Amino acid sequence: MSEDTRRKTLRSEAWFNDLKNMEMTALYLERYLNFGLTPEELRSGRPLIGIAQTGSDLSPCNRHHIELAKRVRDGITDAGGVAFEIPVHPIQETGKRPTAMLDRNLAYLGLVEALFGYPIDGVILTIGCDKTTPALLMAAATVNIPALAFSVGPMLNGWYKGKRAGSGSVIWEARQLLAAGEIDDEQFLQMAASSAPSVGYCNTMGTASTMNSLAEALGMQLPGSASIPAPYRERAQMAFHTGKRIVEMVHEDLKPSDVMTRGAFENAIVVNSAIGGSTNAPIHLNAIARHLGIELSNADWERFGYEVPLVANVQPAGAYLSEDFHLAGGLPAVIGQLLGADLIPNPDAVTATGQTFVTLYEGRESENTDVIRPLSDALAARAGFLNMTGNLFDSAIMKTSVINAEFRDRYLSNPETPGAFEGQAFVFEGPEDFHRRIDNPELGITPESILVMRGAGPKGYPGGAEVVNMRPPSYLIKQGVHTLPCIGDGRQSGTSGSASILNASPEAADGGNLAILQDGDRIRIDLNSRTVNVLLSEAEIETRREAVRAGGGLPVPETQTPWQEIFRDRVRPFSEGMILENADSYRDIGNS
Ligand code: FES
Ligand code: MG
Repeated sequence: MSEDTRRKTLRSEAWFNDLKNMEMTALYLERYLNFGLTPEELRSGRPLIGIAQTGSDLSPCNRHHIELAKRVRDGITDAGGVAFEIPVHPIQETGKRPTAMLDRNLAYLGLVEALFGYPIDGVILTIGCDKTTPALLMAAATVNIPALAFSVGPMLNGWYKGKRAGSGSVIWEARQLLAAGEIDDEQFLQMAASSAPSVGYCNTMGTASTMNSLAEALGMQLPGSASIPAPYRERAQMAFHTGKRIVEMVHEDLKPSDVMTRGAFENAIVVNSAIGGSTNAPIHLNAIARHLGIELSNADWERFGYEVPLVANVQPAGAYLSEDFHLAGGLPAVIGQLLGADLIPNPDAVTATGQTFVTLYEGRESENTDVIRPLSDALAARAGFLNMTGNLFDSAIMKTSVINAEFRDRYLSNPETPGAFEGQAFVFEGPEDFHRRIDNPELGITPESILVMRGAGPKGYPGGAEVVNMRPPSYLIKQGVHTLPCIGDGRQSGTSGSASILNASPEAADGGNLAILQDGDRIRIDLNSRTVNVLLSEAEIETRREAVRAGGGLPVPETQTPWQEIFRDRVRPFSEGMILENADSYRDIGNS
């Protein structure tokens, strides 16, 4: 065989076809033959494909992947590959204490070891619940063997008393009703359950729908895959196509670094704005990029994303749910419109299909213009994130597409200073402190207060708590005040419609200046200049920093597990993707 017609040697051949080391080859082979595979399957140059399985009984959002993996396997076999299912450390967004975000990097580490250390030529990433998507894409980025993501799909629409009930979002609504005494505990539970009617992940445009959409926007999922609801027949059909395609990708040696280029990330940022995506997305995409050696910062999110209009009328920024979104054309309809208006910065980005973005999505249109709006009738003109800076932190994210009329009227509409306001800080030390004290009328929280949450970042509350979307005290809600400005070094749920300033980096527990704030300090927020500043002299700030240092830094909750200790010790700030220190120096390790 001549040099150029010889097929590429597969990674797995180093295990099963190493004729120079028959002893090891035999050892490897006999164990894998042990569960029924034949030598022919393992030694004839068939790609061995991992199915990184995120579904389990502990992970209900992704549990349907256990069924779908059978169809993925059929597709792999049909294309001449051999499938190996690989368990991934479970990540369940709502069930894991202290937060599922802590486990993103743990699942990442586990999958990196599995893909690197075993005879795997390519991998299917079974994505879904919030942190499963970034964890798996990060691992694919580090190992850099051919990888194709496959979404489990969102749940069907939820309904409560004839109205759409969206997962997560219904909780924010119900907790206000409960605080105001309008519903009881039993009704609270009914409202919550009504939002989750089937298998699949959250049916709002929370972090799950966002990250699954962005996996497609990055080119890492087959076109049209992201939005198909989990129970739909097309979901299982897409599983089969995905299984077939990964085998071809191995033969083509099409790797994550070929698909997830800087240009692909810029495209994904634009798509995120158009769908009203989650504020967790910058953390995750900045992390995936770093593992590929690509610089991506919160400033890029504002630069590429801020001016992009919101066209997806999906909760929390809009009215509908994921099933409606799919029936209206799903992500292809959004991307098609953006392409038509020249809003996609890199239309020639190559996707996992081997074809470019523009080839796949050009001309795709909305099939229901109330659910996926035309750009001329967008829900918001500028729907991206602002990158806020100032003397309290270097970078924090603000999602402007969810600023509601009440917030705009009360805070942003002063004719003398439009877009800017001042208020008095009221500081909470983490989520437990907030829940304990928020409803105490003696605290004196008023509509002029700015609620601050600190000690909720990656080190402070290991993984970072999703708590910055703080509700006002119940006595203010009863007076009709439903929203107060919030600032914090934690995160907020992607299902929240709160215009909080969050993910503040560096965090208070890591030398950030939120640690020096005191109740009553005046804070000025200016959306025009993208600044948040405490109105204190530099000298006063330095004096207080010294006092915090002398006191041993911000007090944080105890470390509860060995992993929390490792995580706290090595984690980088949210603005840097919350990746582990030095993990991004390991690149392309599956090809070494
Ligand atoms: Fe798993 Fe929302 S809780 S997707
Ligand atoms: Mg969440």
